[in-house]
Amino acid sequence: MAGLQTAATQRSASTDSNEPLSDKNFWRLCDLVYQVCGIKLTQKKRSMIDGRLRRRMRNLKIVNINDYCRLLFDGSQDADLELVFFIDAVTTNKTDFFREPAHFVYLQNSVLPGWRADGRRRVKVWSAAASTGAEAYTAAMVIDDFFHDRGGLDYSVLATDICTEVLENGKAGLYPDHMLEPIPEEFRRRYVLLPRDPARREFRIARALRSKVTFQRLNLMDDRYAADRDFDLIFLRNVLIYFDRPTQEAVLIKLCEHLRPGGHLFLGHSESLVGGKFPLDMVANTIFRRR
Ligand SMILES: C[S@@+](CC[C@H](N)C(=O)[O-])C[C@H]1O[C@@H](n2cnc3c(N)ncnc32)[C@H](O)[C@@H]1O
Repeated sequence: MAGLQTAATQRSASTDSNEPLSDKNFWRLCDLVYQVCGIKLTQKKRSMIDGRLRRRMRNLKIVNINDYCRLLFDGSQDADLELVFFIDAVTTNKTDFFREPAHFVYLQNSVLPGWRADGRRRVKVWSAAASTGAEAYTAAMVIDDFFHDRGGLDYSVLATDICTEVLENGKAGLYPDHMLEPIPEEFRRRYVLLPRDPARREFRIARALRSKVTFQRLNLMDDRYAADRDFDLIFLRNVLIYFDRPTQEAVLIKLCEHLRPGGHLFLGHSESLVGGKFPLDMVANTIFRRR
């Protein structure tokens, strides 16, 4: 990366920092994002992409955005390394604890009693576009809490995302304090650690819960997913919206292969399944059960 930085500094030293991103480079970037992570960018996202790349360029000490594009597309090993940072910069990672709470109410009231009735001893959950892990830790809290006074349950949560930065965040389990608000008081007491110094304005997920969640980089565009094939729950929320219809369908077909019969799939509230090509029955709004 040092080589990349030096080359970039040398090349951009004489160039104009105000030069706008050229049309050609913008469309090449869109194409790259689509090829690598399936995300469909449009003109509307142009200023967002510009802003995010300029932040990345400051770290690399590159002043001209078209020079940055030259580096990204020059086919070198450095360009391959930079691709990871580029993808980190262009993904949108907004998430929250207890986001779309109806899903967690369904989990608590309908799925977990079923596991208990079936005498399940071990269950697996996958948060398949996990961002910083709020969704994965929320699922862990709800499962842990339900089985706390019912003899416990051996469960694990896999949290995957294409963005490396959010995965590091999730592993650390460290969040800004404004994200605390949706976590119910009782869950905060059991699963959240507050700093001794409130001026730090952050909180950490308790170690016991952190130990249940594993973070791993996984691109939903991969031909095959390096993940188990017998998940009881898969969350795939608020990521399909970034994909076009053929990509959405391809991802869903692959994901279904990782869900055990009777397992549940949760999609985001603005996402839907169209057509009968999936081995799934709808059991509630945006919640599906594998046949
Ligand atoms: C808006 S966040 C949703 C987070 C969480 N599921 C939720 O609903 O709160 C979307 C996440 O999808 C990830 N993502 C986008 N394209 C992806 C891909 N091809 N493979 C894996 N993750 C991807 C992004 O990095 C981002 O963290």
